Amino acid sequence: MDHVVWDETMSVGVPVLDDEHRHLLRLFNGLLESGITPANREELSALLASLNDYVAVHFAREEALMVDGGYPDLDQHLAAHRYFAGEVAGLQAEFDGDNTTMLRMDLILLLKDWFVEHIQQTDALYKPYVGQGRAFA
Ligand SMILES: [Fe+2]
Repeated sequence: MDHVVWDETMSVGVPVLDDEHRHLLRLFNGLLESGITPANREELSALLASLNDYVAVHFAREEALMVDGGYPDLDQHLAAHRYFAGEVAGLQAEFDGDNTTMLRMDLILLLKDWFVEHIQQTDALYKPYVGQGRAFA
């Protein structure tokens, strides 16, 4: 799954969330494609920062919509988000904190796989509650 792109099987039925999922997968693919050389350290750092920021924005939106929709398994879903956000933040902190640390592409790949699975299995569970009959820009 090292170059997964978004497709309809990942749709959660809410356009803004689908857009954000697409964007996050693009960020992962960008990281995986950028390769690791000392020369592109700044580029990787910027990509990691974008990923970190975008994960926070996306999870906040998704969580607000789940609350609005009265999604019953919120705690479990929030725990999954906290885990993932913590892993991404840890990866960035480790990479930025030590010039000799190489970016762990194996971890990026694991996180991406986790994220794809999260969309297909965990996010899919909120479909009946979120965005039903409501317009989202
Ligand atoms: Fe989620």
